Amino acid sequence: MCSVSGVLVFSLAIFLLLIGTPCSSSFVKTEDKIKSAVFLSPKFELGPGSVVNRYYYDIDFPRGHIAIKDFHAEVVDESGNPIPLHETYLHHWVVGRYHQRKHVTHTENDSHMMLQNSDHVLVRNSGICQGNYLGQYFGLGSETRGTLTDIPDPFGIEVGNPAEVPEGFDEKWMVNVHAIDTRGAEDKLGCTECKCELYNVTVDEYGRSVRPDYKGGMLCCYDHTRCKLKEGFEGPKRNLYLRYTVKWVDWDDFIVPVKIYIIDVTDTLKPSDDSKELNSDHDCKVEYEVKSCSIDQKEGNGCVHVKRTSLPLQTGGYVIYGVAHQHSGGIGSTLFGQDGRVICSSIPNYGKGSEAGNESGYIVGMSTCYPKPGSVKIIDGETLTLESNYNSTKEHTGVMGLFYILVAEQLPYQQLRLFSRSSFVADVNFSDS
Ligand SMILES: *[C@@H]1O[C@H](CO)[C@@H](O)[C@H](O)[C@H]1NC(C)=O
Ligand SMILES: *[C@@H]1O[C@H](CO)[C@@H](O)[C@H](O)[C@H]1NC(C)=O
Ligand SMILES: *[C@@H]1O[C@H](CO)[C@@H](O)[C@H](O)[C@H]1NC(C)=O
Ligand SMILES: *[C@@H]1O[C@H](CO)[C@@H](O)[C@H](O)[C@H]1NC(C)=O
Ligand SMILES: *[C@@H]1O[C@H](CO)[C@@H](O)[C@H](O)[C@H]1NC(C)=O
Repeated sequence: MCSVSGVLVFSLAIFLLLIGTPCSSSFVKTEDKIKSAVFLSPKFELGPGSVVNRYYYDIDFPRGHIAIKDFHAEVVDESGNPIPLHETYLHHWVVGRYHQRKHVTHTENDSHMMLQNSDHVLVRNSGICQGNYLGQYFGLGSETRGTLTDIPDPFGIEVGNPAEVPEGFDEKWMVNVHAIDTRGAEDKLGCTECKCELYNVTVDEYGRSVRPDYKGGMLCCYDHTRCKLKEGFEGPKRNLYLRYTVKWVDWDDFIVPVKIYIIDVTDTLKPSDDSKELNSDHDCKVEYEVKSCSIDQKEGNGCVHVKRTSLPLQTGGYVIYGVAHQHSGGIGSTLFGQDGRVICSSIPNYGKGSEAGNESGYIVGMSTCYPKPGSVKIIDGETLTLESNYNSTKEHTGVMGLFYILVAEQLPYQQLRLFSRSSFVADVNFSDS
């Protein structure tokens, strides 16, 4: 029904206005039009202990003016078999949108530095970290197989709108895949937490020395580093891919766009430096460290490390979806409103077996929030508090506390009313009568 255009849409909209019924979900049903496609990233090769942190540009992606309804990904081998996390730990994958100047080709030295030249401009999400930090549209880690990512009707992430692509540029997509082969590792958890001593790393990928109190994190497990294996362990190299499934619908005026926000628990707002750079007052560090609790706390059973940050969201709206991202040791994360109400709470699910999607000791899914549209509202300028909790019985390095939310600035009924009003004005010339 949503594909009808022109006069019919106009009169339907008027009809809804007259009877005053909020747009029901059956009216804007898009299910029957959902398209789906499965793609493979470029191939990457991993042997025991090795690490890839690759940036692939101009990846396969649905084209045209569309609304993304779902983005799902996992690591597979050449036969398409899912690879379990205890063999290839998927630290993260993130998918970004960018504009590339026409007729510019890539050199073979593509890297994440590429987005710093004027031929490529990252189209970041709506916030709220500084610069390009956490600017991705989609992204998850070990929890990728067991986390719901679909966006309910009539909402969607609008992309490919030709009106938003600057003259002389094309819209493209990139993916960053960070994976660690822990087959035969002496300390699998340590490898996944990027403990510097296991990687024998003292300088980062740009040759800068890593400060001595930095025990682990992404500075120590960059592309081509190797994690320590058990003495004498050998295993075959293999070719792997990130397999991703995208679901979308063609854009139409009944789809309600959602904005993507990623809130980072390490973000500390610093006083504005008056620079014009986007969100320059934010300072997201992405990773942090969880120190092991004291013996006293262990005896008191209080080994929970709590990290919090409070940040204002300039523009609010209705929360349509929410999910947290944590690493092993995580025991849940909650986003609170200014008055203390819970906006969304997201809890990890740990695997219990050994097969892909159920790997013991790994986070194999995060619970999600799908509030009834309209029921959870963030007001403009509201200060949100993000809390990320980890079990601190053991020390953890390079952990994260991110919260990804999708926010609609309008609800379907309001959207329809605005839409019908503008059609009304455009189609009917009052001075004629
Ligand atoms: C790529 O990098 C290598 C080593 O850093 C350099 O020798 C080569 O010239 C670069 N190639 C291009 C096309 O920039
Ligand atoms: C660790 O790195 C140092 C210098 O970078 C090197 O001399 C040493 O052999 C390495 N150790 C191992 C076990 O690879
Ligand atoms: C995960 O593995 C455990 C142990 O083998 C099993 O009991 C459980 O049913 C599995 N869960 C799923 C979702 O397959
Ligand atoms: C933390 O982990 C320890 C051991 O791994 C476990 O005994 C304890 O119950 C956990 N605590 C919480 C709060 O999850
Ligand atoms: C509306 O009609 C008047 C008189 O016929 C005409 O002058 C005017 O240009 C029309 N406006 C539009 C937007 O069509």
